[in-house]
Amino acid sequence: MSGSAVLRRPLAQVSEVFYQSDSVQALRNSQVSEVPAQQYATATAVSFQSVGKVYQSSAGAVHALDDITLDIPAGSIFGIIGRSGAGKSSLLRTINRLEQPTSGKVIVNGVDMGLLGEAELVALRRRIGMIFQHFNLLSAKTVFDNVALPLRVAGVRPAEVQQRVTELLALVGLQDKHHVHPRRLSGGQKQRVGIARALATKPEILLCDEATSALDPETTQSILQLLRDINRRLGITVILITHEMSVIREIADQVLVLEQGRIAELGQVWQVFGSPQHAATKALLAPLQHGLPDDVQQRLQAQPPASGAYEVLLQLDYSGAGGLEPDFLRIAKAFGGDLRLVHGGVDRIQGHAHGRLLLALHGQTALPNLSQLAQGPEAIAHRIEVLGYVV
Ligand SMILES: Nc1ncnc2c1ncn2[C@@H]1O[C@H](COP(=O)(O)OP(=O)(O)OP(=O)(O)O)[C@@H](O)[C@H]1O
Ligand SMILES: [Mg+2]
Repeated sequence: MSGSAVLRRPLAQVSEVFYQSDSVQALRNSQVSEVPAQQYATATAVSFQSVGKVYQSSAGAVHALDDITLDIPAGSIFGIIGRSGAGKSSLLRTINRLEQPTSGKVIVNGVDMGLLGEAELVALRRRIGMIFQHFNLLSAKTVFDNVALPLRVAGVRPAEVQQRVTELLALVGLQDKHHVHPRRLSGGQKQRVGIARALATKPEILLCDEATSALDPETTQSILQLLRDINRRLGITVILITHEMSVIREIADQVLVLEQGRIAELGQVWQVFGSPQHAATKALLAPLQHGLPDDVQQRLQAQPPASGAYEVLLQLDYSGAGGLEPDFLRIAKAFGGDLRLVHGGVDRIQGHAHGRLLLALHGQTALPNLSQLAQGPEAIAHRIEVLGYVV
């Protein structure tokens, strides 16, 4: 087998750092036992079928995952969110069988992970890259050697390694860092090395567990941009866990909300973020909401004053559905014109306007029927509510 043939075939995600249970020898041997390629021909990258996971700990059994059934479309960016301990990492790690489900099946590219022997498992893992919050780079090795490691372990010829690593470091923007050691890199640069290493074996799926959590906002943006590029240009399915809702809003197609090991919500990001149903989702999304500012909250009264001027505080919500967006002319007409914008904002998620406006309406104006203004083709918002009165 020539080196380039090796590179076109699925190669292992093969550093000992990643898969400590795999011996290097098993990884080398596995080159002769590929899973037949036609089994991967499917539009579903990962299918979870009634997946359960119970950990046995000294404190007793921990039910980390319970009856998870869902499909992740190939070529998509799939986000997993949930409170700490919800089971996100456990679920992600069943995809490359770093965790073995206690019940149910995980099907990756049409292959039941549970049925694979050691060598076949290693072969399938070659198609699944993984990046981590703390990068997991080998500090004694240079950037080049860190990225080269999976290829060398897989027995790729030195000339091919040289070419592939050079390409990868250019892809992640580290072409001038070949001989630098990780300690001399910034967090963002370290994660770029982690991404290059994860891509070395040309995986079809990239797993990211809190990959941007250790990075500042600007660096997070650049890593997200890189992940999106990799998804679009290379067609790699990206499955990412994050505590940063803005990351999901920015790049994910679909989002799964886990709560105590179960599916709380699942859907297109604009739908789940636009009208969150589950308490866990609402809690997670609270930081993104344009909530009532403290100063306004303090002045808010439940009833209008008996006399004197006052304003009615109105909240208009936009869920992203039906192409409805804030139209100030129509809003002003509906309320008779005498109003001002107090607070709020609209984000666009997957082309859908989603957000909240707080408007103060002059108190002498008679209020129109609010539920009618939130219905049908003439609606000015998806939900309209009187929050109270300010003098
Ligand atoms: N090896 C283990 N042994 C025992 N319990 C475990 C083990 N790994 C995870 N758990 C427990 O399983 C549950 C789910 O853990 P998991 O790491 O999947 O959560 P998570 O959603 O990734 O949380 P975080 O956001 O804090 O990373 C938790 O209650 C955790 O304590
Ligand atoms: Mg976790």
